Amino acid sequence: MSKLSVTVDGLTFKNPFVIGSGPPSTNAKIMCKAFEAGWGGVVAKTVSLTDTEVINVQPRYGKLKADKENIGFQNIELISDAPFEDWERWFRETKDAHPDGILIGSIMESYEKGRWQELAQRCLAAGCDALELNFSCPHGHPETGMGAAMGQNPPMVEEVTRWVVEAAGGSPVWAKMTPNITDITVPALAAQRGGANGVSAINTILACIGINLKTLRPQPTVEGHSTFGGYSYLAVKPIALRMVAQIAGATEGLSISGIGGVTCSKDAIEHILVGASTVQSCTGPMLQGFEMVTELCQGLEAFMDEHGFATVDEMRGRSLPFFTTHHHLVELQAEAREKKAAAKRFRDKQWGEGDITAGTDKLTSE
Ligand SMILES: Cc1cc2nc3c(=O)[nH]c(=O)nc-3n(C[C@H](O)[C@H](O)[C@H](O)COP(=O)(O)O)c2cc1C
Repeated sequence: MSKLSVTVDGLTFKNPFVIGSGPPSTNAKIMCKAFEAGWGGVVAKTVSLTDTEVINVQPRYGKLKADKENIGFQNIELISDAPFEDWERWFRETKDAHPDGILIGSIMESYEKGRWQELAQRCLAAGCDALELNFSCPHGHPETGMGAAMGQNPPMVEEVTRWVVEAAGGSPVWAKMTPNITDITVPALAAQRGGANGVSAINTILACIGINLKTLRPQPTVEGHSTFGGYSYLAVKPIALRMVAQIAGATEGLSISGIGGVTCSKDAIEHILVGASTVQSCTGPMLQGFEMVTELCQGLEAFMDEHGFATVDEMRGRSLPFFTTHHHLVELQAEAREKKAAAKRFRDKQWGEGDITAGTDKLTSE
């Protein structure tokens, strides 16, 4: 087994890098490409039962650049528009072609126990190793009470998670969190009470990527109009790291799949250091290609060698003890200053503790 492999909720990933639900996992062909490139896992594009209406618009993406480099990305894309029967075939084809790749079905439904349970069971029967519950897409579906509308309602997160866990027969269940909420630890704890093995954090941040200054229209513009969309890529990493760290600090025994702004191994390592067991990237492969996983693996391995970590588990959460309150920072600084001042002071009783000439030097002006 490779040094990079991780076992999370009973599933062994050959490396902790997982494709986040979205265009890089939106049919069998593209999921197979991800596994062929070397990703440890794939969270499929979110699916629902076939009678859920999904009508996408075009254009539906927007980019934010700084110094000509992409730093932010926004989408107003919905969940998969393919019939669920196609997905049952695609899950099976992908799993048959890549039995060692971890395939996670992402599901979203309306607030009905039977629909969530049917979807969960059919995904698992078609070959998914685990389920991710989409309580988090911030645009489109919340208008009908789904996605982030559920994720912003912790009692509903708990109840729906319980329904799915009951139907999943022991297969791992992760609840995907929306960042569009004041305190992300509240729905994370609700998911855990509902029986989730883990949470995935974060989905996209509700945003407006920009306004066209010629037409005064917000972007992406569809027939002259737009709607707020989901913001992702490098610019959201600081918010994602904060939220992953908050969940890790507030929970015990809940795995975290860190997502948000992973563009290279440094970003992924940071997610692990604040508590993630696996790390997902969605916009990364959209903008850089699936091959980015090669640098993710090489960079992680080099970091582990440099710091003497034998396993990814050993490094997980290592930065968490260094987060504290502002008040504590003030106290630490006062203590450090006092220590420094004390080290500079020289009293008569200290003569003889070291070399007499060092004592003389200490008391001599330059
Ligand atoms: C175009 C696009 C479509 C997405 N579709 C889904 C989806 O269907 N289900 C889901 O849970 N997340 C979806 N996401 C969110 C991503 O999985 C991820 O949580 C988010 O983009 C932050 O990660 P990133 O910065 O690596 O992209 C989508 C993101 C993008 C950019």
